[in-house]
Amino acid sequence: MSEKLWSGRFSEKTNKNVEAFTASIDIDKRLYSYDIEGSIAHCKMLAKESIITEEDASCLIKGLSKIKREIEQGEFQYKDSLEDIHMHIETRLAQEVGKVAQKLHTARSRNDQVALDIRMYLRDETLNIMKGLVTFEKEIVNVARSHIDTILPGYTHLQKAQPILLSHHLMAYYEMFSRDLNRFGDCLKRINVMPLGSAAIAGTTYPINRDYTAKLLYFPEVSANSIDSVSDRDFIIEFLSSASICMVHFSRLSEELILWSSYEFGFIELPDSFATGSSIMPQKKNPDVPELVRGKTGRVFGDLVSLLTIMKSLPLAYNRDMQEDKGPLFNTVDIIKSCIDIFINMLPKLKINKEAMGRAASEGYLNATDMADYLVNKGMPFREAHRCVGKAVNYALSRNKELHELAIKELQSFSSLFTEDIFDILTIQKMINSRRSFGGTGTENVTAAINEAEKKIEKEMKTLTKFINYDSDAKV
Ligand code: ARG
Repeated sequence: MSEKLWSGRFSEKTNKNVEAFTASIDIDKRLYSYDIEGSIAHCKMLAKESIITEEDASCLIKGLSKIKREIEQGEFQYKDSLEDIHMHIETRLAQEVGKVAQKLHTARSRNDQVALDIRMYLRDETLNIMKGLVTFEKEIVNVARSHIDTILPGYTHLQKAQPILLSHHLMAYYEMFSRDLNRFGDCLKRINVMPLGSAAIAGTTYPINRDYTAKLLYFPEVSANSIDSVSDRDFIIEFLSSASICMVHFSRLSEELILWSSYEFGFIELPDSFATGSSIMPQKKNPDVPELVRGKTGRVFGDLVSLLTIMKSLPLAYNRDMQEDKGPLFNTVDIIKSCIDIFINMLPKLKINKEAMGRAASEGYLNATDMADYLVNKGMPFREAHRCVGKAVNYALSRNKELHELAIKELQSFSSLFTEDIFDILTIQKMINSRRSFGGTGTENVTAAINEAEKKIEKEMKTLTKFINYDSDAKV
């Protein structure tokens, strides 16, 4: 009858539409190398525990390695009737090594096999993403350092608020991405758990050695409950949550680049190599790249919601619904990796218009808070100072002047506490450097933050490289 590995109890062929409907090969073929690596480790364990012979194991391993080469050289044939990557590889193995292929699936089910494959895949991709994020952090810090004295208006409610250093603004993004890095590192702990040996749901009657399989596959931990092992996709949900938060950060940064590169702001210019033109308006240089990052963020959120929704009503343990986990997962992995890569390359090439930023910071009453603080320092309660400066702003506005352009006499009409030294307080440089509170925009503060970040980045990179090389003592 059919070539299907599970066809024993069936007397009718699968409907063609059902084959296409249930097949996941187009999506899960990307797991092939993990599937093969996992199977090889499984063979070695079975042989070590004398569940199969050494000869059988080496025959299976040889066959599996050959299939890997075939897939990599594009010689492998895929078809819907074989459902998924696990069935494809096992069926091909039977053609290659004959009857012994039937021993590979001893003490194993596709339920624990697929859980293993996704965990191995996601462990690698999480590490790739983390490496990308550290590299991006480095780029942020580099630009921050080279703009340690560039001043721009800080905004609240998208209204000019107070002058800040561009480096301080950039370092805010460093903080966000460094939290993302921590979050992915935390996910990794729960991804890095070995489920194989849980079999379909209840474990197995064979005397398997799960610790040995885990060791061969560099897992520091073995899953504790067979039912949970085959039905748990929390680690994907956690990954997608972390990715969603990270994309929020990329999207906010993109939004600022879009805004700042507008004619109205003119704070930055995107590199030509990262912008596009209009098909009708010759003057246009459009920020399509950050716009697409912002747009793709929506798809990542959708992937998170997909997974949450797929899982929310599933009875224990494995249900076929869970096959739908891979599309959203792979989509998010692809998107976040491409966004990180784009930003690593785009950020250092941004043209920053220091003059436009400085000009914008010197107009719009950004020194009003400092003027109020000046009065407080001379003994006036803050609320009263706030009201007094508010009146001065109103007065200056009606005369089309900035606060520092008013004469001392005019200022004194609002408070007798004003003396000539107020004009020194109101300079931008003074405003920046008097914000010395920890975490504030004062130059010394920001320089210290940059120094600290550089040290941290170097450490993170070292730990990650160790982890990527599977050093057993490496901890993220
Ligand atoms: N392709 C399936 C998935 O990704 C593999 C597990 C199939 N298990 C089963 N009992 N049908 O979920």
